[in-house]
Amino acid sequence: MFKNIMVTGGAGFIGSNFVRLIINERKDYNVINYDKLTYAGNLENLDDIKNNDRYTFVKGDIADFERVSETLKKYDIDVIINFAAETHVDRSIMGAVDFIKTDVEGVYVLLEAARLRGGLKRFIQISTDEVYGSVEIGYSKETDTLMPRNPYSASKAGGDRIAYSFFATYNMDVIITRASNNYGPYQYPEKLIPLFITNAIEGMSLPLYGDGLNIRDWLFVEDHCRAILFLLENGENGEVYNIGGGNLHTNIEITKKILEYMNKPETLIKPVKDRIGHDRRYALDSSKLEKLGWQPQMSFEQGLKFTIDWYCKNERWWRKLKNQDFKEYYKKQYIDREK
Ligand code: NAD
Ligand code: TYD
Repeated sequence: MFKNIMVTGGAGFIGSNFVRLIINERKDYNVINYDKLTYAGNLENLDDIKNNDRYTFVKGDIADFERVSETLKKYDIDVIINFAAETHVDRSIMGAVDFIKTDVEGVYVLLEAARLRGGLKRFIQISTDEVYGSVEIGYSKETDTLMPRNPYSASKAGGDRIAYSFFATYNMDVIITRASNNYGPYQYPEKLIPLFITNAIEGMSLPLYGDGLNIRDWLFVEDHCRAILFLLENGENGEVYNIGGGNLHTNIEITKKILEYMNKPETLIKPVKDRIGHDRRYALDSSKLEKLGWQPQMSFEQGLKFTIDWYCKNERWWRKLKNQDFKEYYKKQYIDREK
């Protein structure tokens, strides 16, 4: 049905897990990984498949119209799955320019280049549950109002709606997915779970924001990737699909679980000043996708243990990422949080 799939942001956390899944499980697809290699992009995530005949890496920015157009043509792309984004809420609070450039304008450039060239069979925009904003009670449905409250989620909401507009206006085949918080192997260690696991290994404190009672719905990355592959092949043109893990936990619960499994003392927990505008709770109603036949397979307990073991076994991978640049970012981000 499809032949040449351009995965943008394929050197990042979810993108690299997706590229691996599709290379291993779909022998008739070619994958073109188009990635700018920002601080979050890491080709080592794909060391195991980099020599596969069906895999090609192209360095490029999704907001670069010429480079995108040339790549679409050269590889005769018939599907784009857009994972490329600036993704860290805390960084977006420090400065949002790159978020607007990539998460809004980049989505437009990809769609416009594809529209002008013609021949695209499907475009999947990887959006997020954060576009619904903070949901104190109940579960977000795809038809709920978007109420993003920080520069990251606002940019993602922009990209989400631009993608939809290319379906509504130009009749392009577009699907939008809104997943909840992912965790698992190859996640950059700035995000809650990998930061806390690696800090605990290093004997550093775990900076828990506010009262630690914010709630996220945790989704194991492979379950997310399988949902996207399922929607590539079974999703309906012009539709939005929530992808939730069904695992609602407070940050303090997760922090304690990590320490317990790692046999580390709770004295490592350091309550720090809250994130400004911190969304209290995200929760998804994924029944639309589940009715089509997808369900998450990994329990949170099992997935968290698997992830902790992975970071313990792959110190070489993450120690390189916690380099001088990371240390500077960390100092800037956390220095003013001392309560
Ligand atoms: P990530 O930060 O780990 O990786 C992002 C990748 O995009 C990196 O490889 C980076 O180099 C690349 N990139 C950034 N700007 C680019 C540009 N202008 N052009 C080309 N490549 C660029 O992100 P992730 O956690 O893997 O998230 C992937 C996607 O999933 C994002 O769109 C994100 O908004 C969405 N999402 C993430 C989560 C989550 O919990 N991580 C949940 C829901 C949705
Ligand atoms: P994060 O992994 O940044 O994902 P998001 O903000 O996109 O949901 O954060 C997950 C939760 O963990 C969020 O409520 C903020 C909290 N958090 C901390 O308490 N301390 C930290 O150092 C980080 C990075 C996050």
